[in-house]
Amino acid sequence: MGERRVALITGITGQDGSYLSELLLEESYEVHGIVRRSSTERFERIASFKDRLTLHQADLLDQLSLVDVIRQVRPTEIYNLAAQSFVPTSWRQPLLTGEFTALGVTRVLEAVRLVDPGIRFYQASSSEMFGNSPPPQGERTPFSPRSPYGVAKVYGHFITVNYRESYGVFAVSGILFNHESPRRGKEFVTRKVTDAVARIKLGVADELRLGNLEARRDWGYAPDYVRAMWGMLQQREPGDYVIATGVQHTVRQLVECAFGVAGLDWRRHVRSDPSLIRPAEVDSLLGDPTRSRDRLGWKPRVGFEEMVRLMVEADMDRVAAEAHAGARA
Ligand code: GDD
Repeated sequence: MGERRVALITGITGQDGSYLSELLLEESYEVHGIVRRSSTERFERIASFKDRLTLHQADLLDQLSLVDVIRQVRPTEIYNLAAQSFVPTSWRQPLLTGEFTALGVTRVLEAVRLVDPGIRFYQASSSEMFGNSPPPQGERTPFSPRSPYGVAKVYGHFITVNYRESYGVFAVSGILFNHESPRRGKEFVTRKVTDAVARIKLGVADELRLGNLEARRDWGYAPDYVRAMWGMLQQREPGDYVIATGVQHTVRQLVECAFGVAGLDWRRHVRSDPSLIRPAEVDSLLGDPTRSRDRLGWKPRVGFEEMVRLMVEADMDRVAAEAHAGARA
């Protein structure tokens, strides 16, 4: 009989949860997910393989619900991907962001400690933690977060390290730089841009309003990044890793590239909207992925231009299909 491989994922309905589920199913894991009760459930990212997953109702705000699910599932690995993950919302709802994104991590770790400290634990940490520490940012770069979200993620990172050091839990913190895909939520800048390009190209929109075009990010492709998450839990020793491409672009370059894919001139459509400027900005993120390359053997496969093209094409297909369905209705 083979070794038991059972994964439990919080945030399974999100971009990363959906790609990670697919990877783990391919690796013959039994895959479980935690979903929060809501009157409008959103399963579109996992719909095509939902019958191969087992979903459980629990909540990062409710300690006992986490203990119950972990007792029932007895996972060998837990991936904590759930969070309030949109940076601007964290200024509007700083306390809720802290509950999910900071204390939620401790609740999962407490459940691990109580039920089975042998469970391997992955924490989705973020390059937002670096804030205005100058680039390039690596595992030894000091954190200097600029948003309530970034502050909450710093807490999540350190409590993960602390459970490793205090209780010997195999707990790792993956410090992931921005990672995108056609499954990205439309509030994030890459998808907001590629969705607008598709709608402008197909004549259902004319304008795109954006905030700071000069911000620099190290954008990678989400399916590449979930491979790194899994790889971290397969190591002999737990540790923390930066996952990034080592290549940086501005929001302006993203816009140029995406409009270019559709043969459009972005200057005719993009307007600046001061209400989208953040109270404090992270100006420049550029990751140093040396450690993950050397120790995990991890390398990104899809580069920036190819990813933007994939996203624009996926949005064009979707917008065209919606227009077609609308015309028939
Ligand atoms: N969302 C958004 N909308 N961002 C804009 C816009 C806009 O209209 N205009 C300019 N930007 C700029 C933001 O100011 C920011 O500098 C950059 O585009 C990227 O914004 P997001 O795509 O919202 O991502 P983020 O960098 O704030 O955060 C993402 O990456 C983190 C990892 O570094 C999120 O996925 C976080 O959850 C993640 O931890």
